[in-house]
Order: sequence, then C-alpha cells, then structure tokens
Amino acid sequence: MPGAADGGAWGDNAPAMATGQLIEMKDEGREAFADVLRFYELAKRREWQVRDLPWGELPPIPETKGSPQSQARRRDMWRSVLTQQLQADMLACDMASQLLNMAPDVEAKLYYSTMVQDESRHTEAWLKLVTEAGGTAERDPHLDKLAKTTLEADTLEEKVFLMQVFYERLIISRFRLIARSARGTVLEDLCGRLATDDGIHHGAGMAYERVLLQNLSKKMNQKLVDAANRLLPDFAAHALWRPRERAWIGRAMESRDVERLREDLELGVRLAESLGLDVSGVELKIP
Ligand SMILES: [Fe+2]
Ligand SMILES: [Fe+2]
Repeated sequence: MPGAADGGAWGDNAPAMATGQLIEMKDEGREAFADVLRFYELAKRREWQVRDLPWGELPPIPETKGSPQSQARRRDMWRSVLTQQLQADMLACDMASQLLNMAPDVEAKLYYSTMVQDESRHTEAWLKLVTEAGGTAERDPHLDKLAKTTLEADTLEEKVFLMQVFYERLIISRFRLIARSARGTVLEDLCGRLATDDGIHHGAGMAYERVLLQNLSKKMNQKLVDAANRLLPDFAAHALWRPRERAWIGRAMESRDVERLREDLELGVRLAESLGLDVSGVELKIP
C-alpha cells in the first residue's frame, strides 16, 4: 500500500496543528470528565427502540369496567397524563439539543448526543401511545413556562442545574407513580424505561455540573440560587395543576400532591447542596 507507512498523501498535507491538538486533548486535564464519559457509555448500552415496547400484547393504558361514562372519564384522565408526559419530552428535546449545541466540552457533547436521541425516542413513544389511547388533551401551561425559564437562562451552569439536576430528577418519582397505577400496560413498560433513562440523564447532569462548578464563585452561586427561585413557583404550580380531565380527582389527592411536592423540593435542595452550593437563599414556598 503505497503511502500508508509514511502517511502518504495525508502525511504531507495534514496541518501539523490538527495532530498537535488531538494529542493534547487526550493528555491534559480531562480526568474531571471521567464520570461524564461513563454516563455516555452507559447511555449507549441502555439504548432501546420504540418497537421494543409490548405494542399489541398489552393494553396501552389501564382498562376499566363500569358505566360508559365512568370508562370515558377514566380514559380522559389517562389521555391527560400521557399528554403532559408527551409535552415534557417534547420540551426535553428542545433543552437537550440546546445543551448539545452550547456545551464547549467534547465529552459533554458526546453525552448530549445520546440525550437528544433519548428525548426524541421518548417523544416518539408518547406520541404513539397517546394516539392509541384516543388522542391528546390540554397542555400544561406551567410546564411550558418551566422549559422557557431553562431555555432562556443565561449560562450553561444554570441550564444544566435547572434541567438535569432539578427537573429530570424530580420526574423519576412521577414515572414510578404512574407505573404503579398502570400495571400490565404499555404505559407501565414505558415508564420503567424512562425512569432508567432519566436516571442516566440526571447522573450525567450532576457529573457535568460538578465539573462546571469546580471553581464556584460567589456570583455563580447567587445566579444558581436566583435561577432556582425563578423556577420553583412554576414547578409547584405544575405539580399541583389540575386540568379539566383530572378535576374530579378529589381533595385527598391534593394534600398528597402537596406532601409529594414538599419532598421533591427538599430533595432538590439537598442535590444543590451536594454540588457545593450555598442554598440559604433558596425560597421554598409551598402553596
Ligand atoms: Fe425524556
Ligand atoms: Fe430526560
């Protein structure tokens, strides 16, 4: 093979800088990114396809007995639950692709390339499921505001913090709750997969945020506390929101929702502390 040993046509024409930079990137100071790369590998290993779900073998959502009215009411409630999850994953596509574009570090870009694919696949699965369940219902305006706050945050540190540290961690418990009341359905199967995926997203987000906050300044600490305070009222409103389709669910559920919200917010604060943040300025107002 002429030219292979000495680099051939490449050897003469390749700019010396390119080789130099590649070698440098491998050698220097990238240990901090080891965890991010670990989540990148994990994300690739755990990738699944929408066709892997038990379509046609299991009912899409729980089937109920009773009068046609109560069956219709139940179905509308499930359509509303699915619609919120579809909406959440569509917004997650926007947020993940923004992170892929913005992140300056190659390790983070690799990881975010898998997350963009994950969120797109989640969206595809919810679209198929909500169609099988009879179509979409009302959008949650608070969820749109949550995404807007994250997309419009000034810095990468704030975006990773709001989306992946907060939002994605807190959604995992929602998947478990939905799965528990939807035994033996495609919905339960999907929620299990999403809990795993968002566990990886959250883990990767924490790992990257740790790198980003290695030399945390007072100013950045304040920016993150302010970002959390901007997001929290919408987060609470989202958690307690009752669309028309779910208005009939009684007040007993409401007090449980408030309790769950309180636990979620406390968890969010502990996560922030574990990143080395001084969270004394965070205002936990629960309606
Ligand atoms: Fe997702
Ligand atoms: Fe996610």
